[in-house]
Amino acid sequence: MDKFVIEGGRKLQGTIRVNGAKNAALPMMAASLLLEQGDRLVLRNVPNLVDIRTMGTLLGKLGVQVSRTRDVLTMSVIDDTPVIAPYEIVKKMRASICVLGPLVGRRREAKVSQPGGCVIGDRPVDLHVRGLADLGVDITMKRGYLEADASNLKGRTVYMGGAYGPSVTGTQNILMAAVLAEGTSLIECAACEPEVQALADLLNSMGARIRGIGSPRLIVEGVKNLHGTDTSVIPDRIEAATFMAAAAATRGDVRIEKCRPDHMIAPLQMFRRAGIETNQGEDWIEVHSEGSFQPIDITTLPYPGFPTDFQAQFMAVMSMGTGISIITEKIYPDRFMHVPELRRMGANIRKEGTCAIIAGVDHLVGAEVMASDLRASAGLVVAGMAAEGFTEIHRVYHIDRGYQHLERRLCELGARVSRVSEKKDLSLIRDVV
Ligand code: EPZ
Repeated sequence: MDKFVIEGGRKLQGTIRVNGAKNAALPMMAASLLLEQGDRLVLRNVPNLVDIRTMGTLLGKLGVQVSRTRDVLTMSVIDDTPVIAPYEIVKKMRASICVLGPLVGRRREAKVSQPGGCVIGDRPVDLHVRGLADLGVDITMKRGYLEADASNLKGRTVYMGGAYGPSVTGTQNILMAAVLAEGTSLIECAACEPEVQALADLLNSMGARIRGIGSPRLIVEGVKNLHGTDTSVIPDRIEAATFMAAAAATRGDVRIEKCRPDHMIAPLQMFRRAGIETNQGEDWIEVHSEGSFQPIDITTLPYPGFPTDFQAQFMAVMSMGTGISIITEKIYPDRFMHVPELRRMGANIRKEGTCAIIAGVDHLVGAEVMASDLRASAGLVVAGMAAEGFTEIHRVYHIDRGYQHLERRLCELGARVSRVSEKKDLSLIRDVV
């Protein structure tokens, strides 16, 4: 197991390029299950991450051949009979649930392990199940597996609204089932995230007929079959925002290229409200940070609201602000695992129900902290780069699930972040940093 050792207090400066979005690439990969045998799906700008490799392994078990050349993934179906997504893989990555919709759509049968507990909170899949049932799928839970018989799959009306808003992967699953269902489906209260739009665009380029893309009402006219295509994955808006946070926290000057500012309106507005200078073009953002951060009041919401996946990183920045900031988590009410770790670094944060009340401190101080999930880890990296002295972040395998070569890319901006095997002694590390 590796840890990061960060020597904080160094201003980030320079230019960094954003990779393709993991959360867009995963369902797009799953869409290969909708192909006819012999057709190929080519995806470009696919980040090389643990989660992407896990999806590749799962697709391999489901008869899809997956190969990678640099950032290009090519997928083709060589056997369209397997329908089981086993627990051994699903337990590693919840996004494995994205194979449920296309299996139902194309193979009319699925047996997918139900994802288990998750550190960021309760993450049920009832909206996926109810949505498929609305499409006429007979779906039941047996011994931890969702078993679906889709012999009566039909285009119908599906309502995706849930207690915490629509489900992103739920909407993607329903879309992938509906594109091959006979008749017209209306998906009401659909998730509008750019990653859902990207999947719908991909499906249309494979021959699907989806209208209303980007809106909460998707209309899908079922077609008989889909064909191969060649497309690029959208830039990762959360990675781009994480770099913005890193630049702001270290009082840096950073240009972020190959990103989509139009997917990042809420984070950009919040940076401005906090008094952090940003400039933007069609595919770039510049952050220039000096002076103090003004207190802000943020609520995470479904897109186009402020993303929950950027909550921890922004909290790290605001913990060094002036006055009292409030962050309310409306997607995952318990997603505050980073709070006690930030406190270990001197942050003054009180969790109150689904809110974090942050009294800004002048500076953070390096400490030993524990990464609990992908975005909490990213928040700790941001904090560590701004803090005085050394920060050690344990269990950074979480980071590798969503950020490719993060430490190397941050070092190119002047950060001092080293990946060290947990076995080595810190006295040796200090020379390496
Ligand atoms: C996606 O997860 C992302 N994952 C998550 O990113 C992200 O945090 C989340 O959307 C919200 O934006 C991928 O895209 C692979 P949801 P997903 O279903 O689809 C509740 C990261 O760090 N809900 O939209 O699983 C749920 O509990 C990850 O990259 C139900 O109640 O999230 C939550 O409160 C973590 N019933 C809310 O809806 C359901 O059936 C939104 O969850 C499904 C969800």
